[in-house]
Amino acid sequence: MAVKQALLSGVALAGIAGFLALTPAQLNAQSNTVTIDADDIGGVVTGPAGPEAGVWVIAETTELGTKMAKMVATDDLGRYVLPDLPKAHYKVWVRGYGLVDSLKVDSEPGKQLNLTAVKAPNEAAAAQYYPAIYWYSMVKVPGTDQFPGTGPQGNGINTAVKSQGEFLDIAKTNGCVGCHQLGNQATRTIPTALGHFNNGYEAWTRRIQSGQASPIMVNNMERMGTQAGLKMFGDWTDRVALGELPSAKPSRPQGIERNAVITVWDWSSPRAYLHDAAASDKRNPTVNANGLIFGATENSTDDVPVFDPKTNKAFTVKLQVRDPKTPSEADSIVLRRLRTTATTSSGIRTPSRTASTTMDRAGSCTQPASVRRPIQTSARPDQAIPRRRCSRWHSRVASSKCMTRRRRSSR
Ligand code: HEC
Repeated sequence: MAVKQALLSGVALAGIAGFLALTPAQLNAQSNTVTIDADDIGGVVTGPAGPEAGVWVIAETTELGTKMAKMVATDDLGRYVLPDLPKAHYKVWVRGYGLVDSLKVDSEPGKQLNLTAVKAPNEAAAAQYYPAIYWYSMVKVPGTDQFPGTGPQGNGINTAVKSQGEFLDIAKTNGCVGCHQLGNQATRTIPTALGHFNNGYEAWTRRIQSGQASPIMVNNMERMGTQAGLKMFGDWTDRVALGELPSAKPSRPQGIERNAVITVWDWSSPRAYLHDAAASDKRNPTVNANGLIFGATENSTDDVPVFDPKTNKAFTVKLQVRDPKTPSEADSIVLRRLRTTATTSSGIRTPSRTASTTMDRAGSCTQPASVRRPIQTSARPDQAIPRRRCSRWHSRVASSKCMTRRRRSSR
């Protein structure tokens, strides 16, 4: 559970980026203090060598009904302002490249707060905060001379993979990293809870068989060539376990990168899977500004999570369907086969199969749902996908009333 949460936490948080332009009036360089409003926290971050520039200051609270965190970066003089914080008690701390997290201190909006950055005792400690890709770049990909692959009796690379570029495409954008990043702590280490393994190859053989997405992970490994893929990933995590570190170091935010204000909320239930969220019409992202955000819970519940970023309040809307006999995704062939997943073992029955939800120009949100029992026509059970129709409701409807739609989804 801890691993899964760590792996998916980037998905479960809805991030909204804003930009803060500090005017000279707001910053009083002479006294090295920061001018703040009643709903800001501001101050100066100092490290062993003086002001710490380009490090993050993070304020976090659990008092708003949803866990919320706001983060900003320091300027050249180590100054920061965490703007427009809802009234609450916050834990505030410093994170940055070359540092380890500082102790969390208590603060509230309207307060000046000077913070002390903690230098990382060594490179290994500092590297724990590097973006996942720095670790993933340590993977040793088979050399160009290994292509085309010669299959299980040869070099273990799938014969369909004709070049190193094709192999990388599967290991990155159009395979593994299409669903989640690799290189974060959860994926570059082998959790002890997974069992005892003699080496990385064995551990990887087991780990990609975890969870509801395991058939797709196993398939992607085979697209690369199972033996070569497991060997490559096993070698990578073995070297990480032995203390090897990324060869490159990330640089701290520079210039306007330091103006970003990021707010994240942890919403929905720990028992649901928040795969995705819709906040606007992607073709016209000014639609629904500051309006409600709708979650997509992919098989895990039909209580659709909704979040109001203006009030920091989260609530759910029951996903309704016209036909009470609408089958549950829990009965689908794929999920029945995977009895161990949270989806089925928790007994949740839902017609929703929404991995992603979309918003149109009127701010209406659409979620696809099953309407018929799965039809078993495919030789591969995981390809026998039921036909679907859309049900939808309007984001501005205050009640949880759901309207159905006749158009058939092509999903
Ligand atoms: C269809 C989406 C999808 C694809 C593609 C995918 N994964 Fe995953 N992966 C998941 C999900 C979901 C989990 C969480 C599983 C769980 O814990 O229930 C996961 C978990 C993992 C984990 C952590 C497992 C553990 O508990 O130790 C690793 C490592 C991993 N994936 C590697 C890969 C690799 C390597 C590939 C490419 C061969 C890949 N994944 C492709 C969805 C995917």
